[in-house]
Amino acid sequence: MGVNDDTFSRRSYLKATGTASVAGLGGLTGLLEQDFETLEVQHWWTGGDGAQAIQALFDGFKQEYPDIEVNQNPVSGGAGQNLQTVIKKRVLNDNPPSSWQAWPGANLLPYTRANKLEDIQESVWSHNDMTNAYLKGPKDAARPSGSYVTVPLNIHRINNLFYNVSVIEEAGVDPSSLSKPSDLVGAMEQVQQNTDAVGMANQTKSGWSTMQLWATVLLGEHGMDTYTAFTEGKVEQNQQAIKNSLQIVKDYREFFNDDAGSISWTEANTKVINGQAGFFHQGDWAAGMYRGQDGFEFPDAWNQVTFPGTENYYMLNMDSFPFPTNNPSPEATTRFLRYVGSVDAQKRFNPKKGSIPPRTDVPTDAFGPFLQSQMEDFKNSEAQPPSTAHGLAVDPETLTNLSDAMATFISSWNVDRTYRGMVQAFQ
Ligand code: GAL
Repeated sequence: MGVNDDTFSRRSYLKATGTASVAGLGGLTGLLEQDFETLEVQHWWTGGDGAQAIQALFDGFKQEYPDIEVNQNPVSGGAGQNLQTVIKKRVLNDNPPSSWQAWPGANLLPYTRANKLEDIQESVWSHNDMTNAYLKGPKDAARPSGSYVTVPLNIHRINNLFYNVSVIEEAGVDPSSLSKPSDLVGAMEQVQQNTDAVGMANQTKSGWSTMQLWATVLLGEHGMDTYTAFTEGKVEQNQQAIKNSLQIVKDYREFFNDDAGSISWTEANTKVINGQAGFFHQGDWAAGMYRGQDGFEFPDAWNQVTFPGTENYYMLNMDSFPFPTNNPSPEATTRFLRYVGSVDAQKRFNPKKGSIPPRTDVPTDAFGPFLQSQMEDFKNSEAQPPSTAHGLAVDPETLTNLSDAMATFISSWNVDRTYRGMVQAFQ
């Protein structure tokens, strides 16, 4: 029995017998406060990208475990563009944080292959009725190589088209009339002709937003089979569709804000809020940002349609929290991961984040009309294709290669060169 087991059973015993509350146990109380090691959790949810949501989760955790000291150690940068390098290094050096924000599924395979994650079926997944309450997709993603190693917290949708209602009305565009991605070009022309706003807000400082936009266009214009074939590396077999969808994104580019190359996705979204842009393609974390914005309400100030041509699909992305080996705080981390998997945590976090819960028993009233309609769409969706840009569809090495191809695209807008980079990404 290790030191932690020892202190732990003493704690449970004191709790069970009630002796911890007896006056005069000052010394023991001091000991109890040190039962748990500090919990260090790394994530990239700062500012408009979910800071309020993760704070709400930690507030709930604090209520349940007042003795556990929490060190949130965020590294900002959308889609983990900076955090992921930090984590790779720390895990390689056997100096991991207690847990961190990680896409589940294929993204975790290098870690499971190197035996850097622990099996938490017993310690975590057998609690809070998790194995019964979780949807199948997130549950499968939590065991990328067989055993449970992580706990999904949310489900995000990628194939959204958000818009500023007054801009789009002034432009005379009806977003629900757009039936495929290429229709959006004409709609954005109208926005720029009839208003002072740009057609579409975007950030091209980092490649991920344009990669997910392109993947959504591929799905909407060329269908699910083509998208799936691409994620399986059948790039040359789908040359025409891939080049055509790249060309459509290149056409969109004419309508991006001029400073796209130097801003973040939250800054791009601010242009939608301010009425400087009409449309915005993003995951529904964009809706989490609107929710934190006083006076900018759904559906009068902002609204959303499913990205044209993708109406039957819920292109998804998830975040999860894994349990690394050599954990600096095994007891505290176990408590934290059980909490992440609970109704309470998912009810606090998801409405603020703009995501829906992976558990099926979270009450929906806190979610508001937009997320409730996303839940309906999820239920009615024909399929939930996994996101490429957010690590669910391809392994991390392929994703790095695809990100290189996308970096070429957003600097040269050269369709043929980008296509060749995509072919190589899978080789
Ligand atoms: C995704 C992540 C979301 C959101 C987004 C923008 O990868 O799953 O929770 O934070 O990046 O950073």
